Amino acid sequence: MIFRVLSRLSVKVPSFVYRIEMTMKPQVVFVLGGPGAGKGTQCAKIVENYSYTHLSAGDLLRAERNRGGSEYGQLIDSYIKEGKIVPVEITINLLKKAMEETMQIDEKKYRFLIDGFPRNEDNLQGWTKVMDGKADVKFVLFFDCSNEVCIDRCLERGKSSGRSDDNRESLEKRIQTYLQSTRPIVSLYEKQGKVRTVDASRDVDEVFADVKIILEREG
Ligand code: ADP
Ligand code: C5P
Ligand code: MG
Repeated sequence: MIFRVLSRLSVKVPSFVYRIEMTMKPQVVFVLGGPGAGKGTQCAKIVENYSYTHLSAGDLLRAERNRGGSEYGQLIDSYIKEGKIVPVEITINLLKKAMEETMQIDEKKYRFLIDGFPRNEDNLQGWTKVMDGKADVKFVLFFDCSNEVCIDRCLERGKSSGRSDDNRESLEKRIQTYLQSTRPIVSLYEKQGKVRTVDASRDVDEVFADVKIILEREG
């Protein structure tokens, strides 16, 4: 608005200023839920139907682990097998870079589903430190289902996923991490009225029907 007024008054505004005004602040939905709750599955369906970019913290970490020459490869590998949460300095840089790259390619892609983050207090602090003021967290989409369903789905996924953590031993640790570290983050956002909960134990399409209602209500 101010730039339009200035240009009408023939005040010269450098083009980079326009570019800054045109670039939207990233709008973020955090996607949380137990291992195997269906976060990735539902995010893929959201991307098909709405203008969101899906960034999975776990996928970004696995890609960094596999990147030749990564100084963090071994650390990430052992954290994943142990079901522990990687120090946020690593994860937040991957997320920030992915968001920046997405918006550089297409500035209209400013809506993000950030899947599997923030998973503990350290994740949350890292987000606040690096992203506070740079992105708006709209709400948390929480896929709620029992530990038994989570474990069964991951074991089934493990038959073909090739993931080092889709086995019973890692899953027990992942569930513990989820209960001890991630649930408290969901509770924290709940107190702020920011959690939208979906019963994720039903079949994919039933879950997605609820997701749609939430996204359409939130705008
Ligand atoms: P997450 O990203 O939360 O770990 P995924 O989306 O990868 O979970 O789903 C875990 C496994 O469960 C996958 O094999 C997926 O195909 C399957 N799955 C996902 N949602 C459902 C559902 N609603 N009902 C049954 N199986 C599901
Ligand atoms: O979300 P996903 O199941 O792909 O995560 C797999 C693993 O990646 C987690 O169990 C954890 O070891 C690691 N991870 C992490 N920090 C995150 C997300 C995932 O350390 N924020
Ligand atoms: Mg996933």
